[in-house]
Amino acid sequence: MWHPTPALRHPLPPANWPTAEEAARGRWFRPIALAGTTLATRTWVPAMVPWRATDDGEVTDDVVEWYARFAAGKPGALVVEATGIRDVPSGPLLRIGDERFVPGLARLVEAVQRASGGATRLFVQLIDFLAVKRRPSKEKYFGRHLVVEPRHGAALAAATGDERWRTAPEAELRARLAAADEALLDRVLDERELEAYRFGYRERVTDTHLDHVRELPRTLPPLFAAAARRARAAGFDGVELHYAHAYTMASFLSRRNTRTDGYGGSRERRVRLPLEVMRAVRKAVGSSFTVGVRFLGDEVIEGGIRIEDATWYAVEFARAGFDFLSISKGGRFEDAKQPAVGAAVYPYTGPSGYECMPTVLSDAKGPFSRNVPLAGAIRRRLREVGYDTPVVTAGGIATFDQAEQILARGDADIVAAARQSLADPDWFEKVRRGLGVEVRRCHFTNYCEGLDQMHKQVTCKLWDRLDHDDPDAKRSADGRRLVAPPWSAPH
Ligand SMILES: Cc1cc2nc3c(=O)[nH]c(=O)nc-3n(C[C@H](O)[C@H](O)[C@H](O)COP(=O)(O)O)c2cc1C
Ligand code: SF4
Repeated sequence: MWHPTPALRHPLPPANWPTAEEAARGRWFRPIALAGTTLATRTWVPAMVPWRATDDGEVTDDVVEWYARFAAGKPGALVVEATGIRDVPSGPLLRIGDERFVPGLARLVEAVQRASGGATRLFVQLIDFLAVKRRPSKEKYFGRHLVVEPRHGAALAAATGDERWRTAPEAELRARLAAADEALLDRVLDERELEAYRFGYRERVTDTHLDHVRELPRTLPPLFAAAARRARAAGFDGVELHYAHAYTMASFLSRRNTRTDGYGGSRERRVRLPLEVMRAVRKAVGSSFTVGVRFLGDEVIEGGIRIEDATWYAVEFARAGFDFLSISKGGRFEDAKQPAVGAAVYPYTGPSGYECMPTVLSDAKGPFSRNVPLAGAIRRRLREVGYDTPVVTAGGIATFDQAEQILARGDADIVAAARQSLADPDWFEKVRRGLGVEVRRCHFTNYCEGLDQMHKQVTCKLWDRLDHDDPDAKRSADGRRLVAPPWSAPH
């Protein structure tokens, strides 16, 4: 995984765990009202894809057990992984693009309610993404994928000084390119072709020559709206629209969105589709159902949005009636590492990916609470202009003290922890009961993220090999237990 240089290995922040009374007096375990629902505490588990759905996107027993395990720790809110709004095959990622997904999702909702004793509010993250193909072999790319045009022959002739390439038969041209070195290919292929060859083909929201991409402003609002309606039917407490990281809606918000059809260019135009989607969703589910959004406080990539754009978007989102704003950072394709042949580009391998899920191998600033200033800037701007929309922050948060300081400073209203909750799903309960010394603390070295990258069932290195002889522990094909061992809270 990429990390900023110079690489320093940061120790975990000291944890001065509170007594039960101190926890009760603190801010983190106080309730907060979102329009549509109330969270019993300001603790939150953000979306994490665990790779446990069927290949048809259906909820499995493993999915149910994964979320029930988080719910046992009674977070104020739990957000179900990025769930696809279309009815198209997308591997073992959850989907909500048709009515047939509702019963499985309802089973998940019931399991979370049961496991948390009704303490946890459950949201589902709704996502749309564009096509990303695996990196092809050189033979495959030049044998089949490249669409050969006269300009390729002309460029090859110019680069080699051999005029015969201008009129050479396609098969010969393909064979010559398949044998060419990288420097020659740099001169013959255009930027998108080089990307498709070196990283795998990837669609962009600016590919308006493709009908389905041009039509996104017409197709996405009803798709998101129908998905949100299904989420309500399944019994979720709300939805989180995924406008962050590498996916379609974040790409509309990106400064790199140069569409010329009124949905790109200036920030007023870039935010237009995200707002139209929001209005369609709201119309579909009404005002008593929570509709939040996750978006980027900074894209990190060159030419991407910065906090100035994000604060402006935040005000637009608050004005449009989002019930919470969850702030993330980075996680873009544009600066991702080259994948191996046969693998797909993964948006958490470059500098922007590092910022999204920072590790202990870091720069002087370190990974802990690293992204909180973005949420802080956004929250302050909202309050200045009169909106009290709750703001959620995440990124390297793993102690009660961190959460209390964030809330006391007014950097956020809700403090989320993804990896720390994966390391120990009971940690909120342990802290609340004054049993913080029992917390299994995340090492922030991203073994879990490595599994996600390989599309393997996500587990945590701190518990997936524990209790090897436990006959009740369900395991992956490679022998890892799928959920954290149970914790018996003392009475
Ligand atoms: C395995 C894994 C899967 C993730 N999947 C999602 C996702 O589906 N949607 C999302 O918005 N963020 C996703 N994230 C990012 C987290 O929600 C969170 O923003 C990030 O890990 C930083 O928070 P942390 O330091 O508390 O882990 C994922 C993170 C991990 C480790
Ligand atoms: S695998 Fe590592 S980074 Fe991931 S939750 Fe466990 S300890 Fe934390």
